[in-house]
Amino acid sequence: MLTTQQKHVLETDGHIFIAEFLPNIDIVSCGKTVGKVVAPLTLKSGLKAEKFETLTPKNAITSNKNTYSSIFGLGEFPYHTDLAHSSLPPKYLLLRCVKGAESVKTNVLKSQKIFDNYNYTKLKKCIFKPRDKLITRTLLPLPLIFDDEFIRWDSVFLLPANKNAENFQNWMSEIKWNGLEDSYSLSTLGDTLIINNWMNLHSRSLVPEKDRSRIVERIYLSEIWK
Ligand SMILES: [Fe+2]
Repeated sequence: MLTTQQKHVLETDGHIFIAEFLPNIDIVSCGKTVGKVVAPLTLKSGLKAEKFETLTPKNAITSNKNTYSSIFGLGEFPYHTDLAHSSLPPKYLLLRCVKGAESVKTNVLKSQKIFDNYNYTKLKKCIFKPRDKLITRTLLPLPLIFDDEFIRWDSVFLLPANKNAENFQNWMSEIKWNGLEDSYSLSTLGDTLIINNWMNLHSRSLVPEKDRSRIVERIYLSEIWK
């Protein structure tokens, strides 16, 4: 369980980095001490809540481009919401260091920065659809803003379904957020970054050749224990 202070930081900042957090237990056990662990996407490969994902740098590939690694390879990942193309993205993601890489950064950008720089009425009118029916098994229209205050965003797995969305996509592809993000290195076993996926976008910096053995594990949480 997080301490009162850690919960306060997560609530106010929308994310928290905890160095060497319970380094000797596995990620699912760790997640269960923090909150309610949920499956990444109900139907995705039959994954259950007990499962976790292992993220390792990979070279880009030319076919089956269904992951960021397969598309961007060792390059920088753009800012995104995890599982933005699902009807309701998971509220929290928890990243945990297995094999560290000091030079690789996970960047966290508050969605508020978008609200501060883009007309809210126009944001509310942006409608997207999932890029690929095979991933979500649905082609429901996905509003950029959900619950009036949260943003889902993914430049790869969401496609604009109206002109407002197209304009926003173009704006996001051009804007630079340098200096407005918080950056963390998962460098030591157990280093843990919990991100509120509804309040923030996140990205990964490029991976230099020497750090391609980096290993990070990921689970999702629907709530944090009080
Ligand atoms: Fe992500």
